[in-house]
Amino acid sequence: MLSEQGDTVFDPFCGSGTVTTEAVRLGRHAIGFDINPLALLIAEVKATPIMPQRLWQALAQIESNLRRLGEVEPPKFANIDYWFKPEVQKQLARLKAAIDALEGEAVKKFSLIVFSRVVREASNTRPNEFKLFRLPPEKLKRHNPDVFRLFHQRFAECIGIMSDWWREVGDSLLKPQLRLHDARQPFPLPSESVDLLLTSPPYGDARTTVAYGQFSRLSLQWLGLWREDLDRISLGGHHRSMKVLVPTLKEALEAIAKVCPKRAQEVEAFYADLYDCLRNIVPIVKRDGFAVFVIANRKVRGIKLPTDKIIVEMLPEFEFVVSLPRQIPNKRMPLRNSPSNIPGETDTTMLEEHIVILQKKTVLHTSAPAFHQLRLLERKGRYQGQ
Ligand SMILES: C[S@@+](CC[C@H](N)C(=O)[O-])C[C@H]1O[C@@H](n2cnc3c(N)ncnc32)[C@H](O)[C@@H]1O
Repeated sequence: MLSEQGDTVFDPFCGSGTVTTEAVRLGRHAIGFDINPLALLIAEVKATPIMPQRLWQALAQIESNLRRLGEVEPPKFANIDYWFKPEVQKQLARLKAAIDALEGEAVKKFSLIVFSRVVREASNTRPNEFKLFRLPPEKLKRHNPDVFRLFHQRFAECIGIMSDWWREVGDSLLKPQLRLHDARQPFPLPSESVDLLLTSPPYGDARTTVAYGQFSRLSLQWLGLWREDLDRISLGGHHRSMKVLVPTLKEALEAIAKVCPKRAQEVEAFYADLYDCLRNIVPIVKRDGFAVFVIANRKVRGIKLPTDKIIVEMLPEFEFVVSLPRQIPNKRMPLRNSPSNIPGETDTTMLEEHIVILQKKTVLHTSAPAFHQLRLLERKGRYQGQ
């Protein structure tokens, strides 16, 4: 609704590419940046529809490569023996070599994504956790996955998903521009080149919210893409203080500091990083262009952090248009935590998200409220929302 065909849509925290994929599906040019190479690989595969027959052929080719291959040396990374049983390591190493021998970049990347999933499922980690926890001893004893069978099963499932996608779009999609980039650094994009910025930044530091780095570490290590601890370079990974404190954040930090000064410092580090990212957004969005943030307001030590308001205050070059609440659907994230750190005492952290819509001012001191411009768009038939 907030962009047109041929416009440029940018997601600086694109993860595995929901925004970039939906943007190209709707005929927009899409740009997606992230610090996680696995997420970017998934985003690329999602935006590269492949004819199902080619995928069945690739699976047959991988299985024939496996029959030819002898023993393959597993990669060497810290704690591999802790996270993978010796037999699993042997099978994964052969499977990876069989995929590497495939011809054709697109099918190879698709196969590597399936492989990355099998790595996690065949590892000694507990399922359904973001953080890396080892299976309890009893379960570990019984955990003897058949890597090749698992791969065949997951590959077939993913062909099913790809078939629907191929039927819908064929090979008509524009290619999204995807790259590794830390959003705290200025974006390598021309000024005023983005019509719509649409993103969901991390909701808090990785240690206390979603540990994307831990979640993908083992897969990255097997894929040879692991460079550094992503959770440390994620927002709030290092202690630092804010250069500019906006009023709503100041109030919340003061309230948290009264209960726990250390937690207030950690929260401040996250917002100091978020602030740098937001400031990098300002020059690249076109005047009148929209910036949309999907965020959740978390609680720390029982004190609410209204990130929706904080973002608005951090971006005075934009007019606030609207904040739409939305229930968080089926996400793997900590919905409950213990803000008091008293065992057993938990509180709800994130159940509701907000879609915060801002519009860049035409001139920095414009008096025309963005809301009115939105109503104009509505009249032109581009926006039929709230
Ligand atoms: C809420 S997720 C976005 C999910 C995404 N919408 C999707 O469809 O998968 C936040 C993303 O921010 C990324 N991230 C964290 N710190 C970053 C940074 N400093 N620069 C760029 N991306 C970062 C994480 O890797 C993660 O993929």
